[in-house]
Amino acid sequence: MKALVLAGGAGTRLRPLTHTSAKQLVPIANKPILFYGLEQIRDAGITDIGIIVGETRAEIEAAVGDGTALGIRPTYIAQDAPLGLAHALLTAADFLGDDDFVMFLGDNLVEGGITEAVATFTADRPDAQLLLKRVPDPERFGVAELSATGDIVRLVEKPRDPASDLALVGIYLFTPAILDAARRIEPSARGELEITDAIQRLVDDGARVRATLLEGWWLDTGKKDELLDANRIVLASVQRRVEGDLDDESEVVGDVVVEAGAELVRSTVRGPAVIGADCRIVDSFIGPFTSIGARTRIEGSEVDFSVILEDCVVRGVSRMEGSLLGRNVELSRTRRRPAAHRFMLGDHSQVEIEEGR
Ligand code: TTP
Repeated sequence: MKALVLAGGAGTRLRPLTHTSAKQLVPIANKPILFYGLEQIRDAGITDIGIIVGETRAEIEAAVGDGTALGIRPTYIAQDAPLGLAHALLTAADFLGDDDFVMFLGDNLVEGGITEAVATFTADRPDAQLLLKRVPDPERFGVAELSATGDIVRLVEKPRDPASDLALVGIYLFTPAILDAARRIEPSARGELEITDAIQRLVDDGARVRATLLEGWWLDTGKKDELLDANRIVLASVQRRVEGDLDDESEVVGDVVVEAGAELVRSTVRGPAVIGADCRIVDSFIGPFTSIGARTRIEGSEVDFSVILEDCVVRGVSRMEGSLLGRNVELSRTRRRPAAHRFMLGDHSQVEIEEGR
């Protein structure tokens, strides 16, 4: 069995971090989202993985490399333009050949992995098997309608009036029959070859399409608050590992990861939290549910429930919470006159300043 991971798409779709041009590489607990999926595929025993890449190919290739560190064998497959999930699938037809495969959206973050779903699929071997999750707002997703026996009978993309609360998670197990179905669909109103249309074609042909319910969480990371929340949930299962250096006046409380080369001076970190490699934390407090990227320096500050990426500097800021900083951001208090806030903010930035200051 093979896997096909979709990590293409245009760099412009991205929010909230404009400098992180591949949304699949936004870090959650200091690890790119894409890596969680690749590891879950590997843990299900699949190492032959095709990765669809688009405009951000260089960044994805630089992160995943030859796959040795992740224990996988990646094949990069270029998609000329993000013309839909079924288009990505057809682009990979040569790589997939006649094998069964799992298709996994590279910006998906789910709990629990896919080992069980793969085992059920291999044992039963329906024509396709989809992972579904009960959601409170199905109108935002592709929605599945099931028969009494649990087969999928209908799929509708973002229905105004959803027939069920079962959303398509973006993890699909396919036999090669899906390729033939994808060749026989037309672009949708938004000009994309939709995977839901290809699967519906399979169903209409009389193929057996099964459903597996995802019991664990399925996290969205598209917006700041969603990303902070995803970070909070993933950090909740982090286990304490302190490899960096602490001086006598520093303290690390609870489940905290301090990567090698990081240094804590007169500081406290209260978990769950992750401090990246070669960070320097001086005279500061890092509160729960916070991830600090590699090489970031934090001095005389208090940071809580926040995600800070690599190579930032935060100096004299108390107190910062619910915040997301991209790479190479500098935030500091100064004595410069006139006393004022001074900003240089990238596209789509958002700043909240305490009233009265
Ligand atoms: P999304 O752009 O989120 O695709 P979607 O159709 O699920 O989104 P929506 O309906 O909300 O607009 O892409 C999901 C993943 O697949 C993401 O990692 C980018 C990747 N992708 C490709 O590799 N090629 C494509 O042609 C498309 C559309 C997406």
